[in-house]
Amino acid sequence: MHAKAFTNPLFNAQYFNDVVPRAQLDAALIPEARKCIACHAPIVFMNYTGLVTTPAQANRFETGVTCDFCHTLEGQAENGDYKQVRSGKKQGPYLEEGSVDHHSEYSGFMQLAEYCGNCHNATNHIGLAVKSTYDEWRESSYGISGNTSSFTCQECHMSKDGFLSKGVADFARGEAAYVNIGFVVNKQKEHDKLYNHSFPGAHSIIQQQDALLLDFRVGSQALDSGGLFPFAVLVNNERTGHKMPSGSSDLRFMWLVVTATAADGTKIPFLPHTAVPGSSDYYSIAGASPDDAAILANDVPAGSRLYRSVMVNAAGRQSLFQYDAVEIAFDNRLRATEIRNEMYYLKLPADFSGKVTLEANLYYKGAPSSFTKRIMVPDIRPVLVASRKSEISIEVAKASEKK
Ligand code: HEC
Ligand code: HEC
Ligand code: HEC
Ligand code: HEC
Repeated sequence: MHAKAFTNPLFNAQYFNDVVPRAQLDAALIPEARKCIACHAPIVFMNYTGLVTTPAQANRFETGVTCDFCHTLEGQAENGDYKQVRSGKKQGPYLEEGSVDHHSEYSGFMQLAEYCGNCHNATNHIGLAVKSTYDEWRESSYGISGNTSSFTCQECHMSKDGFLSKGVADFARGEAAYVNIGFVVNKQKEHDKLYNHSFPGAHSIIQQQDALLLDFRVGSQALDSGGLFPFAVLVNNERTGHKMPSGSSDLRFMWLVVTATAADGTKIPFLPHTAVPGSSDYYSIAGASPDDAAILANDVPAGSRLYRSVMVNAAGRQSLFQYDAVEIAFDNRLRATEIRNEMYYLKLPADFSGKVTLEANLYYKGAPSSFTKRIMVPDIRPVLVASRKSEISIEVAKASEKK
């Protein structure tokens, strides 16, 4: 995704079909439009000082976040205000002298999360934090330095699998590169750690699957006097090092669909989730917010629990455009290492007894279909992140057992 940061259809369409036409009408938006290029095509940003209005202008330079760009960064800055090393030497993680031709040198900075925070933390032109993956990591136990359970972005995203395996950052080992000139194969030094450069994230289905875990907690197996049977769905975000969803949280969202089915196949109804009328709680239940019809359309079954952050524009309406956002009105995303307890209440006939199958599915979508429709790109399919099924037996509480 670093290589494709500029050509990626979602970025490309939003930039050229929405940001540029608006910046051409309103000069106040030009600096923010240039910021888009600073992070999504840094080489273009450094070489072209005007507003990029056509792909041809950008294509005169290398677009995307390139090898050379990443390997010549130093010092923490945020919001794409990065600094390039004065020496111009390629920075890398190995202590020994690099090849003379490459003019390489050791960089401790590249091993820090702050390095990624250069671009993975962003504010818009009014100073609103529209992307906070680095801050979210910093606030989590993964980001406490000196802690044995602390892991950097690189340890998760650049290890062999792109995430921790059983709590350990497992790196590939061997030669970082080899030189093969005709018949002469120059054996290079073996390294203990090789850094995977595929950077899996929101676009990697394999990474998404099981990124979060689900479980049920069922207390008493008997009905209460009102015929309500409570149970909890545990939504576990211990495997990512930041909130989920993270990154472009103006666009990304997740939702939980829970069903209960009796042995004869009938669906058992639930007590619906409730939210205080008029409060921002409404954003956590699909269909409850007055903005959902336009923003979520039919992406999420009505009544499902949503996990998202909601940015609102100057008119107080939810906006999917980071540059229009004036406030984060709501944020119930799952924090790193958090296990969220969602209570559900089955509405059973008072004399019910028998087996019930509980099923919970957690979905993720990179952007709502209303967004892809507006910028005229194909819809993004949702990913099933986690799924859990459990069969339980419910008995009518016998009078003697009633408290
Ligand atoms: C020059 C700015 C820049 C730096 C530095 C940078 N990134 Fe990125 N990164 C981006 C951009 C821009 C994208 C988005 C590409 C897209 O979706 O268009 C991205 C995408 C990603 C993704 C993929 C997310 C997805 O949507 O699939 C991951 C994971 C990621 N970066 C991790 C890292 C890590 C870890 C580091 C530090 C080692 C890092 N990045 C450093 C700019 C940067
Ligand atoms: C988003 C920034 C980013 C981009 C783009 C990037 N690298 Fe890296 N690269 C890193 C970081 C960060 C490390 C070291 C991680 C550490 O020290 O924890 C690294 C390590 C390396 C290493 C050390 C050996 C190894 O594999 O572990 C080599 C060689 C390397 N990169 C080459 C490249 C090449 C070639 C490209 C382009 C195809 C590239 N890098 C693109 C950030 C980047
Ligand atoms: C403990 C391991 C871990 C750490 C530490 C970590 N990540 Fe992640 N990250 C993950 C996993 C697992 C996902 C998978 C979810 C997915 O595919 O989107 C993810 C997803 C992402 C995404 C996509 C977000 C989305 O909504 O889909 C981005 C961008 C990202 N990480 C960047 C970073 C950056 C930058 C840092 C450091 C500040 C970092 N990560 C630290 C494990 C980690
Ligand atoms: C400070 C760096 C930074 C700036 C400035 C920035 N972006 Fe990004 N952008 C990123 C990173 C990092 C990601 C990847 C995060 C993720 O995967 O969720 C990203 C992801 C995106 C995505 C999602 C792409 C996808 O395929 O899902 C879109 C769309 C986008 N940016 C548009 C823009 C626009 C338009 C602007 C200018 C108004 C802009 N960005 C400014 C760093 C930046």
